[in-house]
Amino acid sequence: MAKNILIAPSILSADFARLGEEVRAIDQAGCDWVHVDVMDGHFVPNISIGPMVVQAIRPHTRKVLDVHLMIAPADPYIEAFAKAGSDIITVHAEAGPHLDRSLQLIRSLGKKAGVSLTPHTPESAIAYVLERLDLILVMTVNPGFGGQAFIPAMTEKIARIRSMIGARPIHLEVDGGVTTETAGACAKAGADVLVAGSATFKGGKYKENMDAIRAAAAKG
Ligand code: DX5
Ligand code: ZN
Repeated sequence: MAKNILIAPSILSADFARLGEEVRAIDQAGCDWVHVDVMDGHFVPNISIGPMVVQAIRPHTRKVLDVHLMIAPADPYIEAFAKAGSDIITVHAEAGPHLDRSLQLIRSLGKKAGVSLTPHTPESAIAYVLERLDLILVMTVNPGFGGQAFIPAMTEKIARIRSMIGARPIHLEVDGGVTTETAGACAKAGADVLVAGSATFKGGKYKENMDAIRAAAAKG
């Protein structure tokens, strides 16, 4: 089935000293969404950025700001990320005991709600929240760092989640280790949004890199 694959470069691989310029560059190079990785040094072993940085980059693009919260707890910060200009807010299923409540909170703030699963979490974890979701983000590396290798067992999980989604209007996003080598398998398994950090930013040729990932996905 030919479908339109969206590319969401992760700004984790951007030059943080020139973040506004980098966001404009990926926008002009034709990205679909801008993926923002938020890390707390607690849920994941790295610290990145917070709502003030989301607010600072918001004026630099009109594209979807796809904010991936790798933080626990997430609920106390969701309103701040909404006010900062996020379009999609994704929380981890593993981040707190009340996923259903977190998803309701995101939608109550007028934002699209996403859930992410780390590699070891089975897809059954989200079976009863499907109606509250606009996006499912399958982590294909252990969250915390860019530039890691894609975990092959995740292609089966992507396919299983695609069939769980059925006809529901839920995006299926893959995050971690997406390259021209792995994009085809992700698309074939049913992903429709690919996050690509290092594969987009490497060598500074953002358009060329994203075009290559799109072409590889289309072959999948
Ligand atoms: C990892 C992040 C990813 C990461 C992807 O914790 O959620 O978005 O930046 O980086 P690459 O594409 O380099 O694997
Ligand atoms: Zn991410």
